[in-house]
Amino acid sequence: MEGLKMISQIKRLCCVFTFACVSFSGQAHEHPPGFAVASASTYATKAGMAILKQGGNAFDAAIAVTSVLAVTEPYHSGLGGGGVWLLYDAQKQKNILVDGRESAPGAASKSMYLDSQGKVISELSLFGPLASAIPGEPAAIAHIAKKYGKLPLYKTLAPAIQLAKSGFEVDEHYRSMILNKRVMQHIKGYPSTAKIFLVKDKIPKVGDLIVQQDLAYTLEQLAKFGRNGFYQGKVAEKLVSEVRKSGGIWSLGDLKNYKVIERAPLEGEYRGTKVITTPPPSAGGIALLTMLNVLDDYDLQDIKQAERTHLIVESMRLAYWDRSEFLGDPQFVKIPLKQLLSSAHAKRLRKHIKPDKATLSSELAQKENSFEDTSENTTHFSIIDQQGNRVAATLSINFLFGSSFVADGTGVLLHHQMDDFTVKPGEKNVFGLVGGEANQIAANKRPLSSMAPTFLINKERIAVLGTPGGSRIPTMLLLSTLAFVDEKGPLSFVSLPRFHHQYLPDVLQYESDAFNKRIRAKLTKMGYRLHKIRSDYGGPRLYYGDMQGLEWNRKNDTLLAASDPRNIGLAEVHYLLKTNNS
Ligand code: DON
Repeated sequence: MEGLKMISQIKRLCCVFTFACVSFSGQAHEHPPGFAVASASTYATKAGMAILKQGGNAFDAAIAVTSVLAVTEPYHSGLGGGGVWLLYDAQKQKNILVDGRESAPGAASKSMYLDSQGKVISELSLFGPLASAIPGEPAAIAHIAKKYGKLPLYKTLAPAIQLAKSGFEVDEHYRSMILNKRVMQHIKGYPSTAKIFLVKDKIPKVGDLIVQQDLAYTLEQLAKFGRNGFYQGKVAEKLVSEVRKSGGIWSLGDLKNYKVIERAPLEGEYRGTKVITTPPPSAGGIALLTMLNVLDDYDLQDIKQAERTHLIVESMRLAYWDRSEFLGDPQFVKIPLKQLLSSAHAKRLRKHIKPDKATLSSELAQKENSFEDTSENTTHFSIIDQQGNRVAATLSINFLFGSSFVADGTGVLLHHQMDDFTVKPGEKNVFGLVGGEANQIAANKRPLSSMAPTFLINKERIAVLGTPGGSRIPTMLLLSTLAFVDEKGPLSFVSLPRFHHQYLPDVLQYESDAFNKRIRAKLTKMGYRLHKIRSDYGGPRLYYGDMQGLEWNRKNDTLLAASDPRNIGLAEVHYLLKTNNS
């Protein structure tokens, strides 16, 4: 696999500590044989496993993982960002989506990134505190702890606080994240950021420690006072004054009024597999279900690779067409959800698919767009505990190191999720996505997302999965869902080669090992413009995504976990000794 050090990384995929005396009774088991965590970071997976071993549940572990990621992966997620946590409460047998997505400040307006001629001011929605909406992650942590956790925050946040105080070691991965020239330049522009993440304005060496005393203090405030420790009092005052000093528009009221929203997840079905996924303001879940609905009419297993790829890519194009037309924060725009997810709509979309020829996106919208590669960041983790509680969470500060702005004295690196809004209809964002009016900026509105933590459930198997990757998230999940339906386990669905189409730009992106020469020739003949993935990290990375997946097989009583071999995550399973059949 080009670009993938598959063999050397296999060890990271699944570390199983087993004491199991598993005996199969022929019935589906009610509880998993142990617990498991898969995340993008060794520190975070270890912290989650430690909390589970201490008797915490999956939700406690999710808090430990979220907060450790906030400390050790500052380029992906953090207290200054947000995310979506998909939970399954085994006792109540209920799925819940905790929406901790950022919310635009009260002073935000639809023209805030435009000049007097109505032109987009370059980079204004990407760097500096004006690019930041009100963070949701701290509120989500407090909410999950209060409503679903068993352990107090001072225990679940302890690993993160410890790591912030003692520091984590810089590795090659950290260095590759900060190598990005544009990011580096902006970090240097904010001394409050540079003093934490650089050493004398230079990229730290492998083995250097990144110590974050201010972040430890902020985490301690959260542990002591719950959400008020962040959204009111000293931390809030410092956040607002620092943001405003550097051109931001937050107010204390914005922070005080931020609310986590619990939403009902979306549910769909594809060929006997139930798909439970993320509702708006993420577009990811709708896109995933739309693609599956479109594909439901074809027997993909019986179709040759080039034709199969063609159908899958066309389903991607059509789902992203919908995205650009209809989706935004449901608190602000009426989304015709039922219609979008109906089989009648899928049938209508399917009519645009030609049997052996690519449809032109410009035919769909009489509009073309240019193309820009983006690197992946953001993060995902998956957890299952012995009771069967589950968490799939995707967390983000958006692009590498978010806005590059740390509010001095708080250690909080702010996101730049404002760029996920449509800054101007028809203009592309950092992921090349072109949005419509439904996703335009308004005060207290949440930007449209692609994040789509998902559960897949059939008669025997339950998978918990998700990935970062911006606009490519839903299509990665589509390919993994199809693999799950084809009886493939997590090792396979996190590592399979990927390809992606997002309607505009009208390009079929692919990882180098996704198509051989013959398939590429066939796709080109069908009219696809092929674009081999490259990334603008330091080196040539020919891949994207960082999927973390788990699978509990209720029939075989097995638990598997896998972390994407493209990156440095860690998946661990811990089996518990069973004394009788269960
Ligand atoms: O919410 C979203 O869709 C984006 N802010 C997620 C960003 C992401 O996954 C970055 N990775 N490429």
